[in-house]
Amino acid sequence: MIFKAFLAALLTEATALAAARPCKPTTTQASWVSTPSLPSTGSADLSLPPPGMVLKKIALGHGIQNYSCATSDAATPTQLGALAALYDVTSLYPGTLRTGLNKTTFNALSTILLWSQSIPLDLSSYGANTQHPFLAAADIRIIPTIATIKFLGRHYFDQDSLPTFDLLTVGLKASVVKNESINAPLAANKGIIGSGAIVWLKLVDSGRGVSNGLSLVYRVITAGGAAEPCRVSGAGNGSVPYAAFYWFYGAIR
Ligand SMILES: *[C@@H]1O[C@H](CO)[C@@H](O)[C@H](O)[C@H]1NC(C)=O
Ligand SMILES: *[C@@H]1O[C@H](CO)[C@@H](O)[C@H](O)[C@H]1NC(C)=O
Ligand SMILES: *[C@@H]1O[C@H](CO)[C@@H](O)[C@H](O)[C@H]1NC(C)=O
Ligand SMILES: *[C@@H]1O[C@H](CO)[C@@H](O)[C@H](O)[C@H]1NC(C)=O
Repeated sequence: MIFKAFLAALLTEATALAAARPCKPTTTQASWVSTPSLPSTGSADLSLPPPGMVLKKIALGHGIQNYSCATSDAATPTQLGALAALYDVTSLYPGTLRTGLNKTTFNALSTILLWSQSIPLDLSSYGANTQHPFLAAADIRIIPTIATIKFLGRHYFDQDSLPTFDLLTVGLKASVVKNESINAPLAANKGIIGSGAIVWLKLVDSGRGVSNGLSLVYRVITAGGAAEPCRVSGAGNGSVPYAAFYWFYGAIR
């Protein structure tokens, strides 16, 4: 009896959903064979998305994290911002029919990207203007067994210093603030200058009404990007190459 009632409720829900949604699935929504689950550090983890959120895209980001030290004996560097190109790896998620990679290869992509490609930024204009440091949109090919990985968009800090993800090719955008932070696992790749892997983050909508279709972003499986101590970098501004996975969530629509 309870079971029947439950089924009936589910059917009502499904019918309501079907009526509310267009027949064609939205192209921005990932279609999965296996249910994707967020990577774990093996110890403390970032909290899961709240109910009602669906995964829209998994991306790789490759670029720089920039920092400032007021003096060489400042306790910690201040984060100034970040710039990165984003690439779509949604279809490479392990278990995805035909295109999924195995877990080991998939999780290694951020490190492979960091070490095999030059930074996709015009570093000669770096620092001048957030509108011009990017190179033209370009796909990448980082492992021989898979075809190109498509350019998805750009990550930068906007004029209000808010982390922004502009998923240009699919018309999605996230303007976010930090919500949770955990250390990368000890085994994480320490990056080109050996300063360590930047923390994993849970970022939530900034509430500025700038986001479009996205409201939650995770940064995980980071490679490089951590600041050097000020006594090493000295006073002034500096940047550290990094790559990471970004998981983008939005409300069911
Ligand atoms: C994963 O895929 C890579 C590349 O195809 C292969 O070299 C490796 O042996 C695979 N690993 C596992 C555990 O299947
Ligand atoms: C650091 O990143 C920010 C945000 O993307 C950018 O505006 C700035 O030009 C970069 N460089 C410096 C030195 O702040
Ligand atoms: C993170 O998000 C949760 C849920 O919205 C909120 O309760 C909490 O205050 C946030 N924490 C920070 C540090 O923003
Ligand atoms: C460092 O970057 C900040 C923000 O872009 C800028 O205001 C400052 O003048 C820079 N400092 C130096 C020493 O270049």
